[in-house]
Amino acid sequence: MYQSKIAGLGSYVPENVVTNDDLSKLMDTNDAWIQERTGIKERRHIKKGDGNTTAVMGVKAAKIAIERAKISKDDIDLIVFATLSPDLYFPGCGVQVQEMLDINTCPALDVRNQCSGFIYALSVADQFIKTGMYKNVLVIGSENHSGGLDFTNRGRSVSVIFGDGAGAAVLTRSNHIGQGILSTHLHSEGKHAMELSLKGPSTLHWVPEIIAENPQGDDIPYYPYMNGQFVFKNAIERFSEVIHEGLKENGLEVKDINMLIPHQANLRISQFIQKKLKLSDDQVFNNIQKYGNTTAASIPIALTEAWEQGKIKDGDVVVLAAFGSGFTWGSAIIEW
Ligand SMILES: CC(C)(COP(=O)(O)OP(=O)(O)OC[C@H]1O[C@@H](n2cnc3c(N)ncnc32)[C@H](O)[C@@H]1OP(=O)(O)O)[C@@H](O)C(=O)NCCC(=O)NCCS
Repeated sequence: MYQSKIAGLGSYVPENVVTNDDLSKLMDTNDAWIQERTGIKERRHIKKGDGNTTAVMGVKAAKIAIERAKISKDDIDLIVFATLSPDLYFPGCGVQVQEMLDINTCPALDVRNQCSGFIYALSVADQFIKTGMYKNVLVIGSENHSGGLDFTNRGRSVSVIFGDGAGAAVLTRSNHIGQGILSTHLHSEGKHAMELSLKGPSTLHWVPEIIAENPQGDDIPYYPYMNGQFVFKNAIERFSEVIHEGLKENGLEVKDINMLIPHQANLRISQFIQKKLKLSDDQVFNNIQKYGNTTAASIPIALTEAWEQGKIKDGDVVVLAAFGSGFTWGSAIIEW
């Protein structure tokens, strides 16, 4: 039995900064409302012509992670790509990354677990390394939200929250048992699938049918729907539950956490969890203020920034936790 560790991290966000004031020019919203409810000050949006796509941003983050892992792209045995906003309906972004990185026929798979996508992808990568099947796995979370949001009054409670960006990690077989990813914990509850969802275009909601059924365009299923308060309530329960589950599995307690990186759903959710677990400010890392909620990219972007700022050191207990559409949720307990 082997163990995996994170050998390299990278992130990328588009240059184009969109402030709350910028959004208030498109819809009836304002900086005070957005900051009070979400903590978000600004986010990044892909700008037409800047060349970014979900796969392209993923590649930019991946190149940094590969360099920091001190491996060659040809050492990568598997690509796992997490996104809810792929460039194409099919194939997934994983194969686009394989092509763009010019890696010779390595397998690539896409994970569809929305805000929990990175934790699910990390867990998949970890299992392949644990069994000994692969040595180096590239895990990417990337989102192009701005390409699919409703920037009119109708979509304002959703569109102010989300931003674009990508993060990546190289997972490598660890030579030291006890160091690296100690465990991952995954859950889902499909009965709440529609509470945070995007119905189409899909095989049930195909484009010509959508147009035929909605000639006035007033009930458009190809923008995300979110039952905000229901999501909020479930998120705070599941986040703390799955963090405790991971700690217990490893004989750890909340006081042992050196750094918690929660999925950047909403600053109020992170603060609620921090308070519930009685964690100090330097035990939790948040950067949603700058980037909004970047779904599958939020944990790897935050993890990369925390590491770059020297907030994660060798031997630290790092906890990743996420909750999102599905509902799906999960955690990863890491000894750095
Ligand atoms: C989305 C969220 C910020 C909305 O906050 P809320 O306090 O629940 O707000 P509500 O939806 O009840 O709306 C309150 C009022 O603000 C208005 N409003 C909604 N969006 C607005 C915006 N962008 N700007 C200004 N006003 C807005 C509503 O129309 C409503 O007005 P009304 O009282 O006159 O009807 C909050 O529910 C939330 O953060 N949920 C979790 C979302 C999340 O984390 N999603 C990702 C999951 S991984």
